[in-house]
This record gives sequence, C-alpha cells and structure tokens, in this order.
Amino acid sequence: MKVSSALRHAQEILSKIEDEDYAKWEALLILAYILKVAPLQVYLYLDKEISEEKFFKILKERQNKKPLPYILKEVYFWGRKFHIEEGVLIPRQDTEILIQAFLDLNIKKGRILELGIGSGIISITLLLERPEIQAFGIDINFKALKLSRKNALEYKVEKRLSLIKGNWFNPIGERCKFKVIISNPPYLSEKEWKDLEKEVKFFEPKEALIAGEKGTEYQEMLLKKSHDYLENNGFLIFEMGYNQSEEIQGLLKKYNWKYKFHRDLRNYKRVVVAWKESI
Ligand SMILES: C[S@@+](CC[C@H](N)C(=O)[O-])C[C@H]1O[C@@H](n2cnc3c(N)ncnc32)[C@H](O)[C@@H]1O
Repeated sequence: MKVSSALRHAQEILSKIEDEDYAKWEALLILAYILKVAPLQVYLYLDKEISEEKFFKILKERQNKKPLPYILKEVYFWGRKFHIEEGVLIPRQDTEILIQAFLDLNIKKGRILELGIGSGIISITLLLERPEIQAFGIDINFKALKLSRKNALEYKVEKRLSLIKGNWFNPIGERCKFKVIISNPPYLSEKEWKDLEKEVKFFEPKEALIAGEKGTEYQEMLLKKSHDYLENNGFLIFEMGYNQSEEIQGLLKKYNWKYKFHRDLRNYKRVVVAWKESI
C-alpha cells in the first residue's frame, strides 16, 4: 500500500471517531511512525510502499478507542517527540501554555521544582529551552518517574533532572528553596470524571486527572504551601481547567498572591503565574 492511499484511508476511518482536523493529524502521526520520520516529512514519501499489517493493526486499535499515543508509545510536545506509555498521563497540547508562561518570565538560571512530573515533558522541555537551569521532579507514580528518566536520557538532560518519588511537597526539606514551582496537577472533580469520554476514562490513570470533590483541591494545596519553598521573588505556575478561573481567583486572593493568567486559543484562562511581594 502506498503512503498516499494509507493517509486517505486512515483519515476516512478516523473521522468516524473524531473530528476531521484531528483525524488528519492522527493519520499523519501514524504514517510518520511507520516511516520513522517527522509528521510533516510524510508528504515527501507519498509514493513509498508501507507494511499493510502494521498499518491496519494500528488503525484497528485506534478504532477500539485506545488513544493513539498509547498505541505508538510516542507523543509530540513543544515540537519534540517523547516516549509515553499506559499508566502515565498523555501530555495535552494545552500544557504548552505552561511552557510559554515560564519562558515569558525570562528566567535563565536557578532551580525549579515540578510537582506531578508525569512523563517529564514539562521539566525536560524547560531544561532544553533553558540550558542553565536545574530541575527537581516529584511524582507519586513510580512508572511516571521511570518514564521521565527515559525521556531525560533521550534528550541528555538526566544530569540536570533529579527525580523523587513522593506525595507533593513531602520529600522536600523546609530549607530547600526554588526559583519556580511549576505543576499541571490533577484538576478534575469527581463529577467531571464520570462525564468524561470512554477514551480517557478507560485508558488514562484516574489519579493523574482527579483532584477530589471540587477539582481545585490540589491547586489550593499549591497556593497554601508553595510560598514556603520559593526563593524571594520566586514564582508559582500551574495549570487549571477552562471553567475554574473564578474559583482560582478567589483562592489566589485568599492566600495573598499577585497573579497573571495566560489564556488558551479559545480565550479561556488556563494557566496562572503567581508571586508574592517581598517585604
Ligand atoms: C495532570 S498529570 C500531569 C503530568 C505531566 N506533568 C503532564 O503535564 O503531562 C498529574 C500528575 O500528578 C501526579 N500525582 C497525583 N497525585 C500526586 C501526589 N499526591 N503527589 C505527587 N504527584 C501526584 C500524577 O501521577 C500525574 O503524573
């Protein structure tokens, strides 16, 4: 089968389970995986023959609603390819807003702490974009830490990334201070979890997505505790749901933070950068 017909066929099949633009993108990702090239390079190989067996196996798994990154065991984030596997949350494109928020601060040196590091995409991207920073990543999920290490080795930043298993701030000594604390914490409520599509609910780790009854429990914990672990003039940066801005704003005020929101392409507030004025 030629790449051109495989692309067309994949788009047609995938558009039955997702919207057309996304089907086009996933078709491209499948062919990029088979050809072992970057997604946009697929168009250079339209006449090449590919193995039908591999192609149809991937399509079948996808039709059964398994998320494509778990099938291919790879995912793109901030233009780079990362390893991903079941049991660890699939990085979302919205999380790139966290990266932009950090880069906008123009911090070139110092230590950063990531809480809930997952596959490592945030810390590793920041280490690659800012070659003089040092990162510390905590997660309660050992599989996530193993995957972060694999990704760090792939990008040769393992010496600048310390990985620690633990419950949020627990492994950090009181005298340890960071220039930035960054997190994409679980922020769904129990109810939102119940309403999620099968693709997420059946395949992705629940504890990476749910915070509790309200959804804002972990963000509140970050606002309550982070200041103790920040250097003077340090920043707390975290992601939030499109529908959480009012509640988060209330919490920012309750815990006396100054703040700035960053929005997604649909204009929802999705990331907050918070700091305290030094006395
Ligand atoms: C929304 S995921 C974010 C993963 C990754 N940073 C990303 O953006 O793709 C939240 C992460 O927090 C971790 N987590 C959940 N509860 C935790 C806890 N009590 N202490 C530390 N990490 C926790 C989960 O295992 C998961 O990897």
